[in-house]
Amino acid sequence: MGPLIKKARVLVFDDISALEDFALGKWMAMAREAVNRKGTFAAALSGGGTPVGLYRKLARAVEPSLWPKTHIFMVDERLVPHDNADSNFRMMDEMLFSKAPIPKGNIHPVRTDGPPELCAERYASELFAFFQPRKGDMPVFDLVLLGLGEDGHTASLFPGADALKEKERLTAAVPDEKRHARVTLTYPVLNSARNVFFLVAGEKKAEVLERVVERGDPALPASAIKPENGTLLFLADSGAAVMLPVKMKNLQK
Ligand code: 6PG
Repeated sequence: MGPLIKKARVLVFDDISALEDFALGKWMAMAREAVNRKGTFAAALSGGGTPVGLYRKLARAVEPSLWPKTHIFMVDERLVPHDNADSNFRMMDEMLFSKAPIPKGNIHPVRTDGPPELCAERYASELFAFFQPRKGDMPVFDLVLLGLGEDGHTASLFPGADALKEKERLTAAVPDEKRHARVTLTYPVLNSARNVFFLVAGEKKAEVLERVVERGDPALPASAIKPENGTLLFLADSGAAVMLPVKMKNLQK
């Protein structure tokens, strides 16, 4: 009997708004549970365009009492000033940080004022300082929100990148990918999370989503996101799910 290949769970929604509403509800439930259990809720957010609407809804809908216990980290960041149009921090600040009563000290941006390797090391120190993992353990995020690029990248883990081979360090510097050098969380951190949600929308993502969830195509960095002790959920709108076999779809109404 070969290894049980655990098929990732895919939830398909009529449109991005329904997908966002589902993710919002899960966020609130997870945040309440984590805060009740350990006093904090730690989430890592991706940039890009897909999650923008969710971040806007989080700012409006999450009960204010949860924000002082919620810590937000970045899945990855482009090494540009935080007021640059390409900055993930800037997008999250516009959609969420400037709109929700989240204490400044609970927001953990990647410092981008330095060479890539130094920015990566500084960010790793920020993760260690907050999570204070036991020696040899990885920080454990309660929730990681990931996007999926058409080339199968996620975070700033691009096909063929050295960062894909990182098995120990929490962060990696990525050379000039898609216009900017970046810092990214690595597989060891991403795969230690309690919950990993991919948000995937639009017909342009249909082919890459099918290759990842149906075939686990090893050529695609997103295929190696397999939380060892956590849940993995793909939230897709109907456009992104057009190439998935019906049996994989849990149509959410
Ligand atoms: C980034 C993101 C990146 C993103 C994918 C999908 O810094 O760009 O972290 O990994 O999630 O590129 O982007 P879209 O949601 O815009 O398709």
